[in-house]
Order: sequence, then structure tokens, then C-alpha cells
Amino acid sequence: MNANPKPLDSTALDSTDHPFDAVASELAWSEARKRSLQRTVQALFREHLLNRDQLITEGAVSWLPLWSQQGMLRFDGLALGRIGDCRLAGSVSYYATGERPQPVAHAAALLACLAPSLPGRDADLRRLVHELDNSLANDILCLGYRRTWARTLRAEFGAGDVHFIAALRQSAHANPALLLEQWGTLGHPWHPTFKTKLGLSPDEVLALSPEFQPTLQVPVAALRADKARVTFAAGAGDYAAWFADRFPQAAHRWEAALTARGERPADWLPLPLHPFQAQRVIPQKFAAEIAQGDLLLPDGVCIDATPTMSLRTVVPAGSPALPHLKLPVSLRLTSVQRTVSPKSAVMGPRLTRLLGAVLEREQGFGGTLDVVREDVGLHYLDPHGDDDRARHLAILFRANPMAKAGAGRFPVPVGALFAESPFSGRPLATELVALAHGDHAAGAVAYFERHARTVLTALLSAYLVYGIAFEAHQQNSFIMVDDRYEPVQLLARDFGDLRIHGPTLRGAGLEIDVYRAGFTVYDADAPVRDKLLHAVLLCHLAELALLLAHAYGHAEHHFWDALRREIDAVFIALRPRVDADRWQAERAALLEHDWPAKSFLRMRLSDTSDDVHGTMPNPLA
Ligand SMILES: Nc1ncnc2c1ncn2[C@@H]1O[C@H](COP(=O)(O)OP(=O)(O)OP(=O)(O)O)[C@@H](O)[C@H]1O
Ligand SMILES: [Mg+2]
Repeated sequence: MNANPKPLDSTALDSTDHPFDAVASELAWSEARKRSLQRTVQALFREHLLNRDQLITEGAVSWLPLWSQQGMLRFDGLALGRIGDCRLAGSVSYYATGERPQPVAHAAALLACLAPSLPGRDADLRRLVHELDNSLANDILCLGYRRTWARTLRAEFGAGDVHFIAALRQSAHANPALLLEQWGTLGHPWHPTFKTKLGLSPDEVLALSPEFQPTLQVPVAALRADKARVTFAAGAGDYAAWFADRFPQAAHRWEAALTARGERPADWLPLPLHPFQAQRVIPQKFAAEIAQGDLLLPDGVCIDATPTMSLRTVVPAGSPALPHLKLPVSLRLTSVQRTVSPKSAVMGPRLTRLLGAVLEREQGFGGTLDVVREDVGLHYLDPHGDDDRARHLAILFRANPMAKAGAGRFPVPVGALFAESPFSGRPLATELVALAHGDHAAGAVAYFERHARTVLTALLSAYLVYGIAFEAHQQNSFIMVDDRYEPVQLLARDFGDLRIHGPTLRGAGLEIDVYRAGFTVYDADAPVRDKLLHAVLLCHLAELALLLAHAYGHAEHHFWDALRREIDAVFIALRPRVDADRWQAERAALLEHDWPAKSFLRMRLSDTSDDVHGTMPNPLA
């Protein structure tokens, strides 16, 4: 890895810089610019940094006066939808009074024009522009690689079915869910900085990101056993033995390396590290622990692995059975630094236990809900109790979602539904529509109804009856389809920001110990509901509705109506099981009142990882 990556800025973005042919580079460049502009315009309007009520639209052209800076923005082919979703068919230009119009080609250029109208200091804006540039540069790399990758996938799977998903399912591929998630890594649908990976050189981006299907070598460190806290979902266990059961070869080499150094393996615990962390973070941040002999980095003890849609969670040898490793990567990816906090390492297994109890009681709500277990969490015990250090040296072992596949069950990462099929170029969601219901508008509505019913039966039940809000956005969700490609189950992963309404959980006769008061379990209902609305209703179901409406050229209201009907149906079915006041209040919040709108640009402008929410009119009202 390059130890001193060249900082990226817009001037450093030379399309001849990366290893793809010239045509692919040009196309990638132009496509990536469009995407960056669309996401940023969308966020600016959605977060009321630009005021959509002041748009003056004549035909396909919209003008936005910027009073405070005596300028105007011109948008060609701009359409803003009910959740602030933005479509931008043409170009954007800026007109400063008395000057020539200035074309605005990408996100950073737009922010430069808008600087006088935006909140925050110059330094905040410069930081955001840097993050946007970085996202654009990485997206160009991804798009350049994708053309060749699509060709390879057509050659590999194209002889069978006309649908990529079906061809892949019927193939001998060891881990179709993983291939779908790597192919489907488009990035968060709302973040303007959806591909930001700050601090990586382009070579490192290629070497570490799921969009390039890399193989990583994950070194296995040794942490002195009394310096670690291990939490098991099963309650207790022998961590070293658990690890050796799953990774016998690595465990064997690790023990041999310790013995060769004159150490007793029993005094140590094996700790896989992300290669970025091992090379660029641990040697400095934990220099004291290394010097004291509490942390060893034995040479040549590695597990091969490949990243999932979340760069930091990796799959050993791409296996369909071995546990996924969620590893700290002390880099700003998309929005926040992706470490694994002691809270997550402890609460993941505890939540796994709680969710197991709920699923057993409820038979998975008619089989519609299952979870990817977080079986073991380990974190460093900082001598000063400093969790801000410990979060850089931790791990969560999660079950393998592909292990849930079987007769009549095939897990499709929801994020992948938004990616194009390498066969047809149309969104992969249209393949499920075609396979399950027929490739037409009525089929799309039927598929959407079935998908929404499955997800809502699973997640609204958990929410209304137990107060549990899963963060089931696209990346945290698999939709399980049956042999006919009908959705039958929501498989939820990632309990890192799952939120629970304490009074409702206790009312259902269950409880959970929290790692720290004020996190995971809330007395107030708003933070819990906001999670559900943002992750499940907006980022997952509403985005799917919009995708299908546009893919089939079918009026959106058909999908919004279906979503409202399906939510209402779950409320009606659960009425006898939910406290009457809660039932009324939640129904009104979901179907009538304003919804929260997470403000990603504002969060980046103020450099906070705490949720900042505006509101939007309820799209279902
Ligand atoms: N369609 C998508 N929706 C949301 N996030 C996406 C999507 N595609 C890629 N991502 C990436 O996945 C990550 C989602 O963040 P989140 O906190 O849910 O996951 P994580 O904690 O990093 O990993 P895991 O889900 O394995 O626990 C971000 O890094 C984001 O950029
Ligand atoms: Mg996640």
C-alpha cells in the first residue's frame, strides 16, 4: 500500500490517471459528474439549503433566484418529488448578475457558486468540497471498472437465463449473495458524498473497496487476553477455541508464531485486523501497547477476505458459511469514521440474544423476519477506559447471510436491486418483477406490494409490539425470495444503530442491559421512530417505489398507494396487540404527520455524526 497517498482534489482528477481505457474513462467521468450533481442538488433542496418554493419553472427550464448573492441558478429538466427526490435530465448553470452564465458540471462547482448562500464557515465548505471531490473521483474509478466487469459477468453467466439473478442462482457460484452485494455497491441513495473514502489513494481504493472485488489479506494480531473484553451472544464461551473452530489454519499459524516468539498462546487472543488498520493506524495509535508487549503483530498470519457493501465488513475467502468480520477502519467512509465501538462489540451479541428471543416467541412474525446474528464481539480494554481509543481495536463476528439460503430461499441484498443488470442494463429489481409477476407496470406494482408487505410485517411488528426499530436501509437488508422469486422474508443485519423504545420492550415483558445509558434503548419514542422512518420507509421502501415507478414509466401514486395500504394493513392486524395510545400515535406519525428528513449535507457542513433532521410533508398523507 502507498504510505503517502496523493491528496485528491478536483484539479487532481485527470481521467487519464486510472487504469481503464480512454472511452470507458470518458463515459465514467461524465456519468459520475451527473450523479454527483444530482445527489447534491437533491440534498440542497431536501435540506432546505435551497428553497424549492422559489423555483420558477417554464417548460423544461427552472430558475432559482439566489437573493442574498444576486445570482440565479438555471436547471434544465429538473423534477422534485414528494420525498425531495430529484431528477435532473439536463444541465445546471449559474448566472451572476452582469456576468456570463457559468456551466456547473459537478457537485463541488455547484457549492463553489453557492458559497455565499450556505451556512458554515469557509473551512467547513472547503472540507465538504474536498469530500465531494473525493466521492466523485472514487465513483469514476468504480464506473470505469464496471464496464469490464459487466462484460465478464455476461461471459460467465449469460449463456443460461435472460435474467442475471436467475442465471446466478442456478450457477455453481459459491456465494451469489456476495457477488450481488459487490456488484450492487452503488452507495447510499441520499448522501452527496456517497463514495467518499477520505485518506485512501486511488490504488488503495481499488485494493480495498467492494466495487472492485479485491482479495484482502487480513492479518491476525495477538492481543493479551486480559486486555480484551469478549461478549458472546450465547452468554459465555471460549473465544480462542471458537476462533480456531472456524479458522483452523489461521489459528494454527498464529499459535506457531506465538510459540516461536516464546509466548504461551493461551495468554493471547487472536484478533483479525483490517489491512488498512494494521498498516496505517495500529502501529502509531497503539505504539504503547506494542512496546509494552500487550499487542503483537505476528508476520505472515493472514486470512484472505473480500469486502461486502460496507467496506469494513469482510467475508473470509468469500465463503458462504464462515462468519463475516466487521473490522474497524479509521477512515471517513461516506460520512463517519468507520470504527467498531466497544458499545457495538458488546451490544451486537446482546441484541442478537434479545432478537433471538423475539423471533422464537413470534415465529419470526409468520416467518417474515430473520436476522444475521452477531455472535461474538471483542474490544480492547483501554487502561483509562477510553472508548474513543478502544473503538480502533475491536471486532464483531457476524453469521454469514448466505448460510440462510436453501430450498425456496435465496437472499438478495436490497441495495443490489438498484444496480443495473449486467445483462440488460435495467435495474435488477426489474428482474425480480419479471420473474415473479411479469415484466410490466402491473407486475411492478404486484412485486412492490409483496416486497412491502413482507418488510412491513417483519419490521412494523417488531416496532409496534416490541419497540424495536431496525436500521433496515438498503445495505442492511436482504430480501429473501422463494423459488418463484416472490419476497418471503426480510433478513436484517447490522445492529450498530438499532434503536429500542424502552417502555414498549418492557411492556412486552423483555429487557436488555445497555452498554451506556442514552444509547440503544430510549424512553422517548421520536429517536426510535425516526430510525424506522428514515432507514426502512424512506431509504428502502420509498426508494424502491420510485425506482419501479420510473423503470416502468408508471405513475408514482400507484406505488405510494400500495405502501399506504400495506402499512395500514399491518396496523389493523396488530391493533389487539398494541397499547391503544401507542397504536393511535404511531399510526398518525406514519400515515399523517410530517416525516423526518435526515440532513446529510448539514451534518457534513457542521462536521457532526449526530443525526440532524429536518422534516418533509408526509408522502403518504
Ligand atoms: N445502498 C446503500 N445504502 C446504504 N449504505 C450503503 C449502500 N451502498 C453502500 N453503502 C455503504 O454501506 C455503509 C452503510 O453503513 P452502515 O453503518 O449501515 O454499515 P456498516 O456498519 O459499515 O457495516 P455492516 O452493515 O456490515 O454492519 C456505508 O459505508 C455506505 O457507504
Ligand atoms: Mg450497515
